[in-house]
Amino acid sequence: TGAITLDPGYKNSGSCKSEITFLDGEEGILRYRGYSIEELADKADFLEVSYLLIFGELPTQKQLDQFENDIRKYTLVSEEMKNIIDGFPRTAHPMGVLSSLTSALTAFNPKAVNPHNEKDMYDAVCKTMAKFIVIATWTYRKTMGFPLNYYDNTKGYVENFMHLMFELPTGPYKTDKRVLDALDKLFILHADHEQNCSTSTVRIVGSSHAGLFASIAAGVSALWGPLHGGANQAVLEMLEEIHNNGGDVAKYVLKAKDKDDPFRLMGFGHRVYKNFDPRAKIIKKAADDVLSALGVQDPLLDIAKQLEQVALEDDYFKSRNLYPNVDFYSGIIYRALGIPTEMFTVLFAIGRLPGWIAQWKEMRINKEPIGRPRQVYTGSPLRPFVEKDKR
Ligand code: CMC
Repeated sequence: TGAITLDPGYKNSGSCKSEITFLDGEEGILRYRGYSIEELADKADFLEVSYLLIFGELPTQKQLDQFENDIRKYTLVSEEMKNIIDGFPRTAHPMGVLSSLTSALTAFNPKAVNPHNEKDMYDAVCKTMAKFIVIATWTYRKTMGFPLNYYDNTKGYVENFMHLMFELPTGPYKTDKRVLDALDKLFILHADHEQNCSTSTVRIVGSSHAGLFASIAAGVSALWGPLHGGANQAVLEMLEEIHNNGGDVAKYVLKAKDKDDPFRLMGFGHRVYKNFDPRAKIIKKAADDVLSALGVQDPLLDIAKQLEQVALEDDYFKSRNLYPNVDFYSGIIYRALGIPTEMFTVLFAIGRLPGWIAQWKEMRINKEPIGRPRQVYTGSPLRPFVEKDKR
């Protein structure tokens, strides 16, 4: 078997070859299928980017319209899924509910997807994009005790997110175009990020030929953790805490540096980006733009900026190349858009969905072998069994 190379956390191991996303951590470059994240965030919309990630090329207008229509065909979610949601306490975290509901979709869509059959795969993509956004918003409706909403086929995909979340029987929910543009941009920025924790999870679960929904449900669970997608919720809670304690940012920077204190500056640091996170740059500007366009004054934005400044000038953060990541400013935008904090990571999941699907599809089409790492055993050597009365 030969010697085993140990690489905990896979800091230096590539798990696959991929044509989807290019990332240069030293230079702060991120591209989807060769297009820069800056250009995509500026010029494309989320469904266009989803199509690009999953099928490899930007869609023509006709292909895009067809894609959006084909997604609409699948937006009805089985009524029995509502019984499953009703089984959860209202206090359940939306990410836990989302992971379970995504898993439950396997029961209602039992036919295995054949990734080598183009039509089969295309239908599965549309179905997944359709059902996921609906059940994702249902997790919020559940926590509020509101009736569940249905997808509105007269509205676009991103607008439907707001409709599904906020429309009440008392009247339609009106959304500002600037709100939709900001959301669209955030979804694009989250849409893929090569072999991150949740994507690697989706690929490794899928590598046993488990189905698409089952693999994505596992990805949702991986994303939930505060070191990954859960950081966006954790950042906002941290900023609120700093604000409620008098806004002393220096104190929290000190805490983050203290090795005896488990506290970390949430939204700071990245496994791969060692100079800056290009997504954070775009999001910081968007936070300024969105808040001023909507006339929102949020003291948390000022605290975030102060925190960033103090940390960026501090030797601890400088020497470890710790910079704000995608999650540092995104929560401030979500908050300005009226999204509750507990839903932030769900929004990340909606944005990351096309990336997960694209990576699952590529993994299967490339016929990747089952993911099965080795280990270095450090336990006891062989010892004789001890009878119960002698233990
Ligand atoms: N605050 C304080 N110290 C930190 C931080 C932080 N946010 N991040 C890393 N460090 C220190 C860490 O203690 C270690 O110090 P030392 O060398 O003295 O032991 C050093 O920096 C290297 O950190 P690491 O944990 O070995 O690095 P990693 O690549 O394993 O972890 C990370 C990357 C993103 C998990 C980590 O930076 C972190 O926990 N950040 C806070 C959570 C966060 O914002 N996560 C979102 C990541 S981006 C979007 C996403 O993936 O969802």
